[in-house]
Amino acid sequence: MPLVIDLLSAALGVEARGLDLRQPPDADTARALVAAFEQNSVLCIREQRLSPAQLLTVAKLFGTPKAQVNKHQQLPDAPEVAILSSESRVSDGRETRLVQGTTWHTDHSFTVRPPKATLLYAVRLPESGGDTSFCNMRAAYAALPTSTRERIGGLNAVHSYESSRSPRKMMRRTTAEEAQSPDVTHPLVRFHEPTASNALYLSTTRLERIVELERTASDALLDELMVHVDQEQFVYHHAWQAGDVVIWDNRCLMHHANADFSLDQPRLMHRVLIEGEAPLPGRH
Ligand code: SIN
Repeated sequence: MPLVIDLLSAALGVEARGLDLRQPPDADTARALVAAFEQNSVLCIREQRLSPAQLLTVAKLFGTPKAQVNKHQQLPDAPEVAILSSESRVSDGRETRLVQGTTWHTDHSFTVRPPKATLLYAVRLPESGGDTSFCNMRAAYAALPTSTRERIGGLNAVHSYESSRSPRKMMRRTTAEEAQSPDVTHPLVRFHEPTASNALYLSTTRLERIVELERTASDALLDELMVHVDQEQFVYHHAWQAGDVVIWDNRCLMHHANADFSLDQPRLMHRVLIEGEAPLPGRH
């Protein structure tokens, strides 16, 4: 079957069909997949049946898989593959369901070199619900008034593992895991090299404050930008199908999980993060 790539939505994203990635794709196909990812921010490859090792081989088409920061999420036989399961519970033993990542975020922005991309593979899906939503931060930046783009152009933001602005507490970590993640500073607007364009770089649970502003002004600006980006024109909701591998670009997207499925319908995903670089400041 020939490779077919179609748009997923007006906001962002494409889907690819006609591939069985248990066999390595030829060089032209691999190049087409990487280009589709870089230009459209989300690439969904349909109808795959991949072991964790095969998922890692697919991930390597897009870069170098990154070690997982939180050891309790690692798959024992493939430590670069994380298990995201709706059956996970908070680590202090409380019987609270934990669907991770339910607010708009970009992965691991609390690190110096946040992952360029994330792959998520649908292993087990609920009968309904459990979509992943994506927000196009290049389009959101481009839609800002010129005066706002000028106001935020040179600003930088502190990202924490758990921001004091975060609406919820994150999963408990070990002392060693906590020691690995001091606060970091990133530009508020970052340059996306593949498309030579600027993107807002925001993340609900990680953004602490704007370095150059007083706290009140910083909170007001971050709130203003979060309201701006959360508009349907920038958003694509991915309704998962069995066998989907979705790869998304953390440099120019936020995403969130939706905890809208029944407790007796487990949702299990395998995740691989791809190494990235320190965000480049936006070009003005
Ligand atoms: C995540 O936020 O990294 C996971 C998204 C999802 O499970 O839909």
